[in-house]
Amino acid sequence: MATNIFENKKFLTDSAEQTKKLGKDFASVLKKGDVVFFNGDLGAGKTTFIQGIMSKFGIKKFVRSASFMLVSEFAAKDISLYHIDLYRLGKTDVYDLGLDEYLFGKGIALVEWSERLTGCKDQKRWEIDIEYKDENKRNIIIKRI
Ligand SMILES: Nc1ncnc2c1ncn2[C@@H]1O[C@H](COP(=O)(O)OP(=O)(O)OP(=O)(O)O)[C@@H](O)[C@H]1O
Ligand SMILES: [Mg+2]
Repeated sequence: MATNIFENKKFLTDSAEQTKKLGKDFASVLKKGDVVFFNGDLGAGKTTFIQGIMSKFGIKKFVRSASFMLVSEFAAKDISLYHIDLYRLGKTDVYDLGLDEYLFGKGIALVEWSERLTGCKDQKRWEIDIEYKDENKRNIIIKRI
């Protein structure tokens, strides 16, 4: 699948299952070294979308973010996926806590609460904004930056 089919697109999902499916479809454009930033309020669906991405890579262990884990690493067949959840932190520079290792490495980094991350403004990345519309509906905007 070409990278650009998800570039600057807006989706509306009606259920968590649909958001997972969108994440799974989106995962097919991801390549080694890619970074995906997620923005959206508590309970918006960031982790749900990431569950879909993980499932595409055959990772079944990923159920949801353990809020006390800053970085969780998941090994797929020939690539590592890093789930990074900055919820518990304030503004954090990418070089603090060694996050650069994950963000500028060979794996795929999936970052929740990425608005808290500073120091990688110019990095090429995917940015996914999830907006709560009602109990089961979400607007999902995918940008390539
Ligand atoms: N269309 C939808 N897309 C995603 N999640 C949905 C949707 N409709 C309902 N939900 C529900 O909303 C919740 C989303 O939770 P999730 O953990 O994915 O959010 P989050 O953005 O990761 O939150 P947090 O900031 O706390 O990590 C789940 O309980 C899910 O079942
Ligand atoms: Mg989450």
